[in-house]
Amino acid sequence: MKVINFGSINIDHVYSVEHFVRPGETLRSEGYQVFSGGKGANQSIALAYAGAKVFHAGKIGHDSEWLREGLRRCGVDTSMIDSVDIPTGHAIIQVNAQGENAIIIHAGANESFGEEEIKRVLDVCESGDYLLLQNEINGVDRILNQAKNRGIHIVFNPAPMSEAVKTYPLDEVEVFIINEVEGEMLTAEHEPKMIIKRMQELYPQSQVLLTLGKDGLVYAYGKKHITKAALEVQTVDTTGAGDTFIGYFLAGLMKEEDIEMCLDMAIKASALCVTRKGAADSIPTREELFRVNVI
Ligand code: RIB
Repeated sequence: MKVINFGSINIDHVYSVEHFVRPGETLRSEGYQVFSGGKGANQSIALAYAGAKVFHAGKIGHDSEWLREGLRRCGVDTSMIDSVDIPTGHAIIQVNAQGENAIIIHAGANESFGEEEIKRVLDVCESGDYLLLQNEINGVDRILNQAKNRGIHIVFNPAPMSEAVKTYPLDEVEVFIINEVEGEMLTAEHEPKMIIKRMQELYPQSQVLLTLGKDGLVYAYGKKHITKAALEVQTVDTTGAGDTFIGYFLAGLMKEEDIEMCLDMAIKASALCVTRKGAADSIPTREELFRVNVI
């Protein structure tokens, strides 16, 4: 069984700042680094590190082979990454003194998927495989529609969230992994409890995983409700923590591990991720998780 992650690949330009730049302000950054990133690519790396057989379907510009090579070295199958005549997607990321981030993305090649390519990728999926999607490429609604009736498990992380997501055929989604902002936009509720309740009313067949940052998470599926606290760590940079969580959680799910175990592993992996700089580069390997004491 494999997972195909149909997702973004970005070059992250990361600026260390005292505070996020304000309207009209010119701010000197205290550090600048270029990392590989993209919600899709980060999640593929986390999946591979967690032991899943993962194929990344994505697009990069001709000058960004280093990104493909980086994914390959982490254990991701990159045969479905095309290089095209469009610049690679990129992100401009401010990381403040508290390790929080503010991100602007430019989609570039991530928004150049056509009907034929979507079909080509989905034709590689076999019944029982997993399809992971974020909202950082074009055509997510078409992918969901075309993935219907193929016996594929669909996992959706609607990030970055947009109003359009509400028009997607979300009944096809087997597992939603959302944060509070995404949950609020999907349900028009504000309290985590109410977000979960509404999500279960809207999508009664789906598992819902609501991540709450420092406040932990809630997992709900039918009558099963699990809450977990976050681990307290020294935060350096939160970029990629959500992606790390998703990759590790999904890898556990694919191995049919007990859900509590999947969540604990994902929490540990994302906690270790925030203690390091960068997105893809901060994702811990499984071996590191056992070696490093996160708590
Ligand atoms: O989730 C973190 C990612 O969001 C970054 O790597 C950046 O590229 C944006 O996609």
